[in-house]
This record gives sequence, C-alpha cells and structure tokens, in this order.
Amino acid sequence: MNLQKSAELFERSKKIVPGGVHSPVRGFRGVGGTPVFVESANGVRLKDVDGNEYVDFCLSWGPLLFGHQDMEIGEAVKSALTRGWSYGAAERYSLEFAEDMIKHLPFIDEIRFVNSGTEAVMSALRVARGYTKRDLVLKFDGCYHGHVDSLLVRAGSGLAEMASPDSAGVSASTAAETLVCPLDNEQALEEVFVKYGDKLAAAIIEPLPANNGLLLQRNEFLKKLEVLCNKHGTVLILDEVISGFRTALGGMAEITGIKPDLVTYGKIIGGGFPVGAYGGRREIMDMVAPAGPVYQAGTLSANPVAMAAGHAMLKKIVRENPYAKLAETGKWFTNELQAIADQAPNFSLHIQSFGSISWMVCAPKGQKPSSTVRSIEAIPAQQKAIYAQIFHGFLDEGVYFAPSGYEVGFLSTAHTKGDLELVIEKAKKVFASVKAV
Ligand SMILES: Cc1ncc(COP(=O)(O)O)c(C=O)c1O
Repeated sequence: MNLQKSAELFERSKKIVPGGVHSPVRGFRGVGGTPVFVESANGVRLKDVDGNEYVDFCLSWGPLLFGHQDMEIGEAVKSALTRGWSYGAAERYSLEFAEDMIKHLPFIDEIRFVNSGTEAVMSALRVARGYTKRDLVLKFDGCYHGHVDSLLVRAGSGLAEMASPDSAGVSASTAAETLVCPLDNEQALEEVFVKYGDKLAAAIIEPLPANNGLLLQRNEFLKKLEVLCNKHGTVLILDEVISGFRTALGGMAEITGIKPDLVTYGKIIGGGFPVGAYGGRREIMDMVAPAGPVYQAGTLSANPVAMAAGHAMLKKIVRENPYAKLAETGKWFTNELQAIADQAPNFSLHIQSFGSISWMVCAPKGQKPSSTVRSIEAIPAQQKAIYAQIFHGFLDEGVYFAPSGYEVGFLSTAHTKGDLELVIEKAKKVFASVKAV
C-alpha cells in the first residue's frame, strides 16, 4: 500500500501540530506506522490522499450510525446553512430537537446542549456537585469520559482509593477529588460507598464501557451501583456518549432498566457534527444557569447546523429503528470473523460484541480468555502487539479498523453484506499472517 502522500503530510503536520494530529489516537501510536490522511469519505468507504480506499469500521469513533455522508443528514445541513450558521440567541431548532429527543427518553426531564462529550461530562459533574453540595466523584477503572481533568486519573494502590493523575497537567488536588473503583466488582463498590458514600457527589460510569476495549458489564453490577447511589444521595451519571442511540434509542438506560439521575451524550446525537448534551431529573437540571446557580455556557452551544444534523439523525433513527438489524448483522459478521480467527496458527482471538459495537481480544495461541472480559485486568498483556499486526494486515487489504487495540469497531447501516463478505475474505489472509509475540 502506497502511503507516500500521507507520510509527507504527517511530516509537515508534526512540525506545527503536537504529534501531527488533533486527537491522540489518530497518530497511530498504538499500532505504529504512518497515519492515513483521509481525503474524503462516503458510505462506509474512506479514501486517503494517496488514492487508497478502505472499508471503514472506525466511522469517526462512533457518530456515523448511517455511514458517511448520509443523504438525509446532508440535506438537513444544507438547508440549515441557508438560514445562517450561528445565532448566539434563542432559536426553535434546538427546542424541536430536544422535544423530539426527550419524548423517547423517559429519564430526562430537561436537557442542555453543549459541543462535545467531554463538555457534557464536565458540566454534568459540576451540576452534580452543585446539587449535592459535595465534592467527591467516583469513576471506574477502564471507563473514559473525555479529557475532564478530574477524570483523567488512575486508581490508587487499593481496591477503591483516591486517584492519582493519569495525565501531566492534572493537579494532585484535582485527582484527589476522584475515587476509582474496578469494574465488575460489587465488593469494591460496597466498600467505597461504606467509606465515602455520604461524601460522593456523583458516580459516573459508561454502562457499556467501550474505551478500553469493550468491557461488558453484568446487569447486577450496574444495578448495585444504582441502588448504592440512591441510598447515599449520590447522583448517578450514565455516560452514554458512545452507547446512547447506538445500542438502542434510549441507550443502555433503556436496555438495562437503570434510571440515571443524569445522562451524558455525544457522538451520534450530532450526526457527525460537534454536539454533546447532558440531561436528567428536573430537580437537578434546574440547578443549571440561568435557572439555577451552576454556571455553564457556550458561544456555539446548540449551533443550528449541528442541531439540524443531530435532529435529522434522530428522525431517521426513530423511523428506521435500525438496532435489531444492526445487532443481527453484527452477530453474523463477528461469528464469521471468529471462525476464521480460530484457524489462525499464531494467536487466539476472542471477539466481544454488543449490537453494532465489537472488540477483538488478542492473546497468544491457546491463551484465549476463558470468559467475557469485563475489567482491564483481564485484558491479555499481548493485546497491543497482536492487534497492531491485525490492524496493519487489514489496512494493507483496504480495511480500516480503529488504530488502537483498546478501541472498538462500529458497524453502520451503510455496511452491506457485500462489504462485510469482502472483509471476511480478507480476514483469512490477515489472521494467517499474524506472527507469534
Ligand atoms: C464514553 C465517553 N465519554 C466522553 C467522551 C468524550 O467525548 P468527546 O470526544 O466528544 O469530547 C467519549 C469519547 O470518546 C466517550 O467515549
């Protein structure tokens, strides 16, 4: 595969952009090699600046449920552009979008639009702190919630301890306002609530953790968290930036029956444009300015073009209800890939999936995880090295999976049976070529 122009652009970019990219995983550090510079995208096809084409399973990290350049979203955006693209004033477009959205989300009385998932989470935490008048926040090891300072932390040495910074630039005092608990561990959860429950403003979790692999959680564990939050007056925040509108219209809250106090969204609700949102119980959301004392604002919040894209996406989701079909396609596709991987001579693959999200767990031959991987401790040490080979094998064959072994793959309704059969065919060569590590 010729990536010469990509390589040239990368060299140029590295001179003026940190690491050459505007978001870290795009830099291919997790898999090595030259990041592909995209020229255009349509349906499930990415085209790079060297003219190579790829079937895309990264799909902008999740927002593109209907693939690139979905016509309905495109038309809505074009129409919105004729009305001006930023007002900084009250308008009806975000209202109509919010009304339509809330109709399907019984756990949300009020919602506020922001510009990204990170902003949604950051704001939700502030609201939870303002509402409870408490400072501490609980997060889970293996969940990612954007680059919010207080959540860029890692666990301390014990089971549920005060966190320490996981990024330079996060102060120790900020990290100390966060507790980190392992996933899939009710006992640790109990302990942390016994010790800190009455000081916890919020507990935030990805109900379907999909940022450190796809760490499928048991419903009992999530239920336990809900019960403990209710008991201790801790605001339960479900971070559905990935899972919202991806797993079901009502996301994992709908699927698990867990009632969040607050929920955060991003990705799909913007239809590929920069939108985030947080919403929840009226009593809590009424804390937000100008209704209440918790300040949160944004020059471009509820941008009319982004709202048009998101609303068009929502209308199409409601009309098509694509989830059962996506799940069925996902199951078939991952089963086929699994069967081929089972023949591979030099490594073991265990594909975990949920609906249209999937993740390849990579281990040395014969060391396949014996059960579902639910926590970061259970991820094989060889994950990164083996996945990097799989990634590059597929890339050479014109298939673009996420450039990191800890990121998931996404199916869209635009993936046809033919596209997937092509990938299954390529998988035979790719999996056979992986060397033992
Ligand atoms: C669960 C979750 N929360 C928050 C974020 C942050 O969203 P954004 O990248 O839009 O800031 C992400 C991004 O991947 C996410 O997956």
